[in-house]
Amino acid sequence: MREELEKLKGEAREKILKVKDEKSLERVRIEFLGRKQGKITKVLRSIKDMPPEQRPLIGELVNQLKHQIQKELEERKKNLEKEEKEEYIDITLPGKRPLVGRLHPITQTLEEIKRIFLGLGFGVVGGPEVETEYYNFEALNMPRYHPARDEQDSFYLDNNYLLRTQTSPVQIRVMEKKSPPIRIIAPGRCYRRDAVDASHFPMFHQVEGLAVDKKITFSDLKGCLTYFVHRMFGKETRIRFRPSFFPFTEPSAEVDISCIMCRGSGCRVCSGKGWLEILGAGMVDPEVFKKVNYDPEKYQGFAFGMGVERICMLKYGIDDIRLFFQNDLRFLKQF
Ligand code: PHE
Repeated sequence: MREELEKLKGEAREKILKVKDEKSLERVRIEFLGRKQGKITKVLRSIKDMPPEQRPLIGELVNQLKHQIQKELEERKKNLEKEEKEEYIDITLPGKRPLVGRLHPITQTLEEIKRIFLGLGFGVVGGPEVETEYYNFEALNMPRYHPARDEQDSFYLDNNYLLRTQTSPVQIRVMEKKSPPIRIIAPGRCYRRDAVDASHFPMFHQVEGLAVDKKITFSDLKGCLTYFVHRMFGKETRIRFRPSFFPFTEPSAEVDISCIMCRGSGCRVCSGKGWLEILGAGMVDPEVFKKVNYDPEKYQGFAFGMGVERICMLKYGIDDIRLFFQNDLRFLKQF
């Protein structure tokens, strides 16, 4: 009997190890431990026909064998599961490209503008988005009754505070703190109560520029902006100054660049004009200098303000400002 059991044990072990999948393993289990026809089960059943004095010993041995086989079956099953999982990793498959974030096109444009002016010796400063009426208008020579205020309908928090409509108030804040020479740009968000359309959004970005020193002239302004335009849009881009009006600069100009689509011959983007307006600029008005206690006889300065969305739209041929703020990855992924 003992020998027979040893044989069964060897047979079971061999079969268990040979098995390659869980189904065949189950078949081996049934072959040995199956309720009806299992080889071990049969031996167990036959014990009752043996001489009574042998029964306990044989019973014990068969039970041991049964547990042994059960243990081996389980172990093999665990190993098979592990092997199966490991086989799932197909190292020849191409890897999944991780989704890498990128800077928003407005941020990229801002960075580029900053880079260009930093190269010209300008520093970068910031200012509050919630401004007082004094800094946003009054100190910029736009008193309460001034019609130029109409163009910049604002979001007021109360009578005194509003969301700034332009970055120009930073000019005042810088001049109040520092004496000339001054060379700064001030990028940041601005707000106006404009109805949303393809070219208007109630929140937008501007970059303000200010240079104050002795003997600063309009040609300095022109040279500086020409350099900027060439770096931003390419050397072939032409620049033109049109007389204009801002309460805080005198003389004032609106600055155009030759249309980057048609190079000046006239197309849909420039409405047939061949030119695109990109910013406002001028020589700092003596009235503004007086507000910050600078002597207008001693110092001159130039200032400019550009819309970042506008620059970005022209640079990349984007025809709707709303695209910047919809967070549509199909749009953003292109930059
Ligand atoms: N702040 C003006 C605007 O928003 C632009 C500007 C800035 C004009 C500086 C002249 C000088 O329209």
